[in-house]
Amino acid sequence: MDRSACVGDKLRTMIIAIDGPAGAGKSTIARRLGRELGLFFLDTGAMYRSVAAEALRRGVDTSDEAALVQVARGIDLRFDEEGEIFIDGRPGGQEIRASAVDGIVSVVAAVPAVRAALVPKQKLVAERQGGVVAEGRDMTTVVFPEADYRFFLDASAAERARRRVAQRGQPELEEEIRRSMEERDRIDSTRMDSPLRLAAGVQRVQTDELTVDEVVAHLLEVIRGGDRR
Ligand code: DC
Repeated sequence: MDRSACVGDKLRTMIIAIDGPAGAGKSTIARRLGRELGLFFLDTGAMYRSVAAEALRRGVDTSDEAALVQVARGIDLRFDEEGEIFIDGRPGGQEIRASAVDGIVSVVAAVPAVRAALVPKQKLVAERQGGVVAEGRDMTTVVFPEADYRFFLDASAAERARRRVAQRGQPELEEEIRRSMEERDRIDSTRMDSPLRLAAGVQRVQTDELTVDEVVAHLLEVIRGGDRR
């Protein structure tokens, strides 16, 4: 049987879960993979960022967990076909990538009730779209542990900072960006609820020496080869 046709039939309900630290290239890779496979790209970091951005707009203090949870429960989050997020109808784009959001999002994402509000929304997107390439910190462990394919994208802290700087075009801020990323990684991987971790059976891909094209090609090879979990 032609394997690609067989894989093609299955793609409608396929879930590909990708985790990894900040700046490892998860969004870029997941978006590209989604395009290649005809699957919806689900950026779950954008959802936590949206809650953080909305909390900033409303002047909510990050120590006020009850108020953060209210924001997370009440907010209307939607994605367009390109996977871009809309917060209560307005495009989240620039706002959720602001450094003020970088500064608080890990604290917001560590609140269990905030996560409890967002995880069902993530599962609903996967259900409605009939499959996704989902990226975040707990896709492979908590949200989609039964995903068809699970990957952990990694890179050294220096390389991840370099990529972020290239993406945002602020070379003078490299040191600050690296420190802010490391602090977020520390919080994301040491929190009690759904910490970032490499779980058994998840394929780790070290990307320092690889281009985006090479990473995408490698993941596609694994997926099309049918070498599951
Ligand atoms: O991937 P990102 O940098 O956009 O993620 C923003 C923050 O949200 C980061 O601190 C990790 C957190 N996050 C999370 O806790 N769980 C997810 N599934 C996705 C992101």
